[in-house]
Amino acid sequence: MTDKLVSKEIHLTHRPKGFVTEQDFEIVQVELPELREGEILVRNIWMSVDPHMRIFLAQGTRSTSVYKLNKPLSGGCVGQIIASKSDKFKEGDFVLADNGWREYWISNDNTNNNNNVTVIDPKIGPIQHFLGLLGITGFTAYIGLFKIGGLREGIDTVFVSAAAGGVGSVACQIAKIKACHVVGSAGTEDKVKWLLDDVKIDYAFNYKRLDESIIAHSTTDEHNDISSELKRACPNGIDLYFDNVGGKHLEAAIDNMSLFGRIVLCGATSVYDSIGTNANSSLPSGPSNLSLAISNRLRLQGFVYSDHNNIIPNFQQSMSNWIREDKISLKETIYDGLESAPKAFLGLFKGENIGRTLVRIGSKI
Ligand SMILES: NC(=O)c1ccc[n+]([C@@H]2O[C@H](COP(=O)([O-])OP(=O)(O)OC[C@H]3O[C@@H](n4cnc5c(N)ncnc54)[C@H](OP(=O)(O)O)[C@@H]3O)[C@@H](O)[C@H]2O)c1
Repeated sequence: MTDKLVSKEIHLTHRPKGFVTEQDFEIVQVELPELREGEILVRNIWMSVDPHMRIFLAQGTRSTSVYKLNKPLSGGCVGQIIASKSDKFKEGDFVLADNGWREYWISNDNTNNNNNVTVIDPKIGPIQHFLGLLGITGFTAYIGLFKIGGLREGIDTVFVSAAAGGVGSVACQIAKIKACHVVGSAGTEDKVKWLLDDVKIDYAFNYKRLDESIIAHSTTDEHNDISSELKRACPNGIDLYFDNVGGKHLEAAIDNMSLFGRIVLCGATSVYDSIGTNANSSLPSGPSNLSLAISNRLRLQGFVYSDHNNIIPNFQQSMSNWIREDKISLKETIYDGLESAPKAFLGLFKGENIGRTLVRIGSKI
């Protein structure tokens, strides 16, 4: 009898209310069953952490179920097949799947059964790029700008929040490739410097310094809030706002949109922590200035990248060209070891990352 393979995985132990803590997770060792006919065994090499997971820790949505307690969490991963009893997948293949937060996993090979396992070609680029530039991060920025936002080359003034994050930094670069005027906000001076010097956007500001300044003057100085900063950065108005954070940024952008401006609701990182809190606690209010959307003929549209898989080929073609021509890159913030995944996830809400946040779980065969 062969020894059973033991895999570590990260479980959610409590439904967080408000701030998530490392105590809401635990690392558990499980024995994997013997591989059956038609199955593959995969060792994860990389996984990503994504702010929107915060929603599913607390509750489900119309399209996605809430995470189960005391079960492994899920999220993007790239791994390598280390054993195969399938004729569709072979040992050594690299695969992209949604089975992060664990060292090993077993899947059937029924690709019609929504198992979301895709073989990737390591010759195209470093395998973790399939979680970044060539994966959800790049694709989300692409869909948001072109399909939802209708980016107009050489015309638009584009504002991007969380501009130094994964999706934000890619959105900034694509908008620059398309000769737009690009303004970004971020939460540290280092990020602002990086956005100006390396990403080469036109204007960047530290929204946290603006907050500090308001507190220091113990008054709401209208010249020191995000809205006033945007007025300075975009005197003729914002044509396209790529919203990664919601909350105060969204309200400030609405103040400054040009007529017929478009707001792409990609994420709402600043308010995710309020999801699942009790109704009597202080939930963030919606933008108080939403009526401006009427007089300024604005369009606000949310989207989820996975609804747009039909344009993956166009995306891959454009992104590969930009990478080859050295027009785009994605910085990575890497955490080592599966144990560090909760810390990596919490870091997203403290602004500890620049670019894409990844956890390195294992090595190639
Ligand atoms: N719609 C879709 O299909 C889709 C797909 C993927 C991702 N998303 C969303 O896109 C957004 C970006 O995702 P990502 O993976 O690239 O994450 P990310 O932007 O790399 O990381 C999150 C960033 O948000 C900023 N942040 C945290 N708390 C904030 C607050 N209270 N106010 C303002 N900024 C705050 C932090 O940067 P600072 O230092 O600048 O604060 C942090 O680095 C997320 O909201 C995510 O849920 C949507």
